[in-house]
Amino acid sequence: MGGKEMSQITEIAPDVFKISTFISEVNIQFNQFLVKDEEPLLYHTGMKGLFPIVNEAVSKLIDPTTLRWIGFSHFEADECGALREWQRLAPNATAICSFVSKMVSVDDVVADRPARALEDGEVLVTGKFRFKFLQTPHVPHAWDAGHLFEENSRTLLCSDLFHQNGEVEAVTKSDIVSRFKEMLIEYQEGPFANYLPYTTKTEKILGRLADLQPKTIAPMHGSTYVGDGESAILDLAQAMKEVLAGSV
Ligand SMILES: [Fe+2]
Ligand SMILES: [Fe+2]
Repeated sequence: MGGKEMSQITEIAPDVFKISTFISEVNIQFNQFLVKDEEPLLYHTGMKGLFPIVNEAVSKLIDPTTLRWIGFSHFEADECGALREWQRLAPNATAICSFVSKMVSVDDVVADRPARALEDGEVLVTGKFRFKFLQTPHVPHAWDAGHLFEENSRTLLCSDLFHQNGEVEAVTKSDIVSRFKEMLIEYQEGPFANYLPYTTKTEKILGRLADLQPKTIAPMHGSTYVGDGESAILDLAQAMKEVLAGSV
C-alpha cells in the first residue's frame, strides 16, 4: 500500500454503509461495513495500514469516537488488524467475536481491552438493528469463524464467503457466485491455494446461513449482492464443493 488508495462509500441497505478500498497490487477490494445506529458498529477493521483511510471514511458517516462495537468473523489482519487503533480512538468500542477468537487470539494479540464473546444464536441489539451471531467454524476459514446477520434488514455480513477479485461494482443484483468460483479456481493454482477448506461440516453450516434468507449479502472482498440470498448461498455451497471437494 502506498497510501494513495481512495475508499468508496456506498449505502448497501438503509444506514448500512460499505467502505471499499481497492488495492491494485493484490487485485482485491477490502471492504468494511459501518452501521449507523444508537450504538454504531464497524464490521471488519481492515489491516493496520488501512486504518487512516478507513478512519477518514468512517468520519464522513459518524463521529468515529462514538463507535461502540467492532465485529469481525475470525482472527486475521483484514478482519481485525486495526482493532487496537480503533479502540484507542473510540473509548467505548468493544470487540465482538466468537469465544474462541477472544480466548485464543484477540484479547492477547490485538485488543486494547477484552472482547465480548458472543454465543451461537445470541442477538446483539444496537438500537433499531438486531445482529444475530452464528458460530461457523472453518467457514469461510479458521477455527474461530463466525458471522453476523442483521435480522431487520436481512443483511448477512459474510467475510470471505463470496470473495470476488478485481475492481468490481459496489453493489449488484447479478450473480456473484461465478466470480467467486473463478477466484477459487485461480487461487488453487497459486500461493493462496486452499484458501477456504471444505470440511464435513461445510455444507451444513452453509445450509444454516441459507436458511436465514438474506436479502443483502456483504462480502469483505468484492461486490455486495442484493437479491435471493438463500439461492446464492446454496449456489456458493455447490461451487465450493465442485472446486474444493473435487466432486461435481
Ligand atoms: Fe479470512
Ligand atoms: Fe478477508
